[in-house]
Amino acid sequence: MSTPRDVVVLVGSLRKDAFSRKTANALVALAPAALKLAIVEIGHLPFYNQDDESQPPAAWVSFRQRVRAADAVLFVTPEYNRSVPAALKNALDVASRPYGQSAWDGKPGAVVSVSPGAIGGFGANHHLRQSLVFLNVPAMPQPEAYVGGAADLFDSAGGLVKEGTRTFLAGFMAAFAAWIETNGKH
Ligand SMILES: Cc1cc2nc3c(=O)[nH]c(=O)nc-3n(C[C@H](O)[C@H](O)[C@H](O)COP(=O)(O)O)c2cc1C
Repeated sequence: MSTPRDVVVLVGSLRKDAFSRKTANALVALAPAALKLAIVEIGHLPFYNQDDESQPPAAWVSFRQRVRAADAVLFVTPEYNRSVPAALKNALDVASRPYGQSAWDGKPGAVVSVSPGAIGGFGANHHLRQSLVFLNVPAMPQPEAYVGGAADLFDSAGGLVKEGTRTFLAGFMAAFAAWIETNGKH
């Protein structure tokens, strides 16, 4: 078997019991063997400030290197006020600079939005996609993943309780593996 694709997983919520992190863990567990997923933390990244580029914080440097080394990126995010949480937007901004050296450039991506609400973070999903267009991240168009009703999806150990959700998320990851092969660097 060929080497699995290295997929960085970014979780848009910083809270410990986040539904989005539980969803990310489920996606990691359901991914096909062709993918090797790793959640990369973003909560410690200092706010992007261009003045700091002359001596970039170590956390920026290592985050940029980690993203650059990856074959693909999976975003799993809640919706904050119909948009992307600031921590995730900051991570996007940090790895997009210095100008002309964006770590995102050409990396295949996929977006999963998660909410206890009924519309599954649609606003965050599409605001994120707007940035991904500019960053030249080919984001998988289908299947879309708006995970709603998230408060009822997990047991106390973080396991998925609904078979339909498990089947959907497994199909999503299989489609993403195919998307990476089609759109990634060979
Ligand atoms: C600042 C803030 C804004 C929020 N805005 C939205 C929103 O626009 N749409 C939505 O569905 N839920 C919204 N929520 C509720 C979140 O979906 C809910 O807190 C969810 O658990 C956060 O995701 P997490 O479990 O991954 O941390 C908001 C929560 C916070 C803290």
